[in-house]
Amino acid sequence: MAGPAPGRRLRLRPLAALALLLALAPGLPAARAGQAPRPAERGPPVRLFTEEELARYGGEEEDQPIYMAVKGVVFDVTSGKEFYGRGAPYNALTGKDSTRGVAKMSLDPADLTHDTTGLTAEELQSLDDVFTTVYKAKYPIVGYTARRILNEDGSPNLDFKPEDQPHFDIKDEF
Ligand code: HEM
Repeated sequence: MAGPAPGRRLRLRPLAALALLLALAPGLPAARAGQAPRPAERGPPVRLFTEEELARYGGEEEDQPIYMAVKGVVFDVTSGKEFYGRGAPYNALTGKDSTRGVAKMSLDPADLTHDTTGLTAEELQSLDDVFTTVYKAKYPIVGYTARRILNEDGSPNLDFKPEDQPHFDIKDEF
């Protein structure tokens, strides 16, 4: 039983809001100058994994997610359980940063490390290809290794930029 009055009020509301916005808009940058960016403008929060934390997600427990890092980016590879679960062929890559192993396609324990020292140009290219076409394409990012986010002295790495993964909802773990 809607009368004309409520309908008219509703139609006017967007116009009123727009007018208010236009009236306020020129003042906005000045009012905000010098203020720290609000959290929403800094992007989603990112989760930092120490080596110990990452080691908890090596697929040992049936109902625990399985995580592994490549290039310091921690991926949730649980959906690839047939590759990464307990007893599966690539389980050794999980619970750690396995960048070198992925670059060399090696499961040698000595290669299951973040360290890329001495890799050939082809291995580095292969690493980037697998990083982009397998990991970023298939698995959601859940965080970053401490090594990727922090400098050696523990201060924040100001060059850190979260990876873009537009086809996934980045999990907000906080
Ligand atoms: C006899 C040697 C190997 C064979 C026959 C083999 C075979 C395969 C096959 C068929 C796939 C694709 C599976 C699919 O998408 O359904 C695959 C994926 C993969 N392989 Fe291998 N592989 C071998 C050795 C290795 C080694 C030594 C590594 C060491 C890092 C490795 C790392 C990977 C990775 C990271 C993937 C992607 C898994 C994913 O999609 O999450 N492979 N392999």
